[in-house]
Amino acid sequence: MTVKASERGTFSSKMGIILASAGSAVGLGNVWRFPTEVGNSGGAAFILIYIACVVLLGLPLMVAEFTVGRHTHANTVDAYRRLAPGTPWVAQGYLGVFTSWFILCYYSVVAGWTLKYLVASALAGPAGISGNTAYFESFTASPVEPIAYMVAVMAVCHVVIARGVEKGIERSSKLLMPLLLLIIAMLVVCSFSMPGSEAGLRFLLQPDFSCLTSDVVLSAMGQSFFSLSIAMGCLCTYASYFRDDARLMRTAVSVASIDTTVAVMSGFIIFPAVFSVADVEVSAGPGLVFITLPNVFRMAFASVPWLGWLFAMLFYMLLLLAALTSMMSIHEPTTAFLLEHFRWPRRVATRVVTLSCVAVGSLCSLSFGVLSGLRVGGLTLFELFDFISAKIFLPVGGLIIALFVGWRLPRRVVWEQATNGGTLRTRTFGLYMLLLRWVAPIAIVLIFCNELGLL
Ligand code: TRP
Repeated sequence: MTVKASERGTFSSKMGIILASAGSAVGLGNVWRFPTEVGNSGGAAFILIYIACVVLLGLPLMVAEFTVGRHTHANTVDAYRRLAPGTPWVAQGYLGVFTSWFILCYYSVVAGWTLKYLVASALAGPAGISGNTAYFESFTASPVEPIAYMVAVMAVCHVVIARGVEKGIERSSKLLMPLLLLIIAMLVVCSFSMPGSEAGLRFLLQPDFSCLTSDVVLSAMGQSFFSLSIAMGCLCTYASYFRDDARLMRTAVSVASIDTTVAVMSGFIIFPAVFSVADVEVSAGPGLVFITLPNVFRMAFASVPWLGWLFAMLFYMLLLLAALTSMMSIHEPTTAFLLEHFRWPRRVATRVVTLSCVAVGSLCSLSFGVLSGLRVGGLTLFELFDFISAKIFLPVGGLIIALFVGWRLPRRVVWEQATNGGTLRTRTFGLYMLLLRWVAPIAIVLIFCNELGLL
């Protein structure tokens, strides 16, 4: 069933469009996953490759998703159905809806952890929370507490989504994104002013190309896709709420710039702080943010404990806000699908998505504790969700979008969307098509094979 354009929500301003899309892109991927990848892959050299991936692959794919969304003004399933009726391309629409729902289930678990660490830091006072592995593990393994925090964050996301596109998503992004950028700026200044932070800066600024392996190049590509929210229907759904005068290429450049700046700034917050406290055990993965950092906050500010306290609270607040705006964008594709496809009221569609994600998310959370024995292919439920979505659905979705917009959509439609019907100058259009048709598909096939261990 189709919904008339006038019944759909619309972002009311260009700033709203940029901030909502940037809110989707800036998330745990930037503040938590990016620094971890930088740490694992050798610092500055990784960052340079990452930036190249954002420009050469991320940007064209983002514009391609925007093209599908804005051209059809429909949820992802109906968008593909309208553009390629009766063909297997429609499966991409379903993949987008399903993957968003799937990611939300486990993303909200980690978002719950950030709320826990914010609350715990606030309650602990200047003495700080104990940042050790046992504390982290006993919290994540407990059956009730992490689920309660997950439900709390999800409830906030629910309220925003239930209020709709303009009053919910746009308004909250306009409030939260500037706040987030302000917190980042404050944290960067604090981090730079720590004694001994130069080693961290050197790590981030002096490239050592000897650590560049094909594996590093491919992880940089994977990280750039995750961080830009590409390939899962989020940006396509947001673009369906764009007005016709929004400039797709310019919006993509702004969103990618904000996202990359936040990722690099997170590196600038975390590494000078970690390097300035030499005898802290540095753990990779979730540990960097939840185990290593609480120690860093406490030890780096041992002489001024209240400053360490403030630093810790600001940091977890940053993580929570970033996670929340991304969660909203992961919630919306499924909600929009239920709402438009089945004509459910927004209230009902939102409720169904929230409740089903809480139910499955609880299982993911329990997989750190009572359900840790339940394994599929050696992976716990949480690891399985992460693996399937980030390493299988993400590259497959990206590949299909590049092929669809690059090869299947009439070139005229792609050109009209990129130039707003010919009213904008198009000097980069040829380059955009070249990247979309050739560079992106080949690179994505490489990522995919690498991540599955086929290379
Ligand atoms: N980009 C977000 C982050 O950096 C996560 C995210 C939101 C995402 N929507 C997505 C990742 C769609 C992949 C696809 O945390």
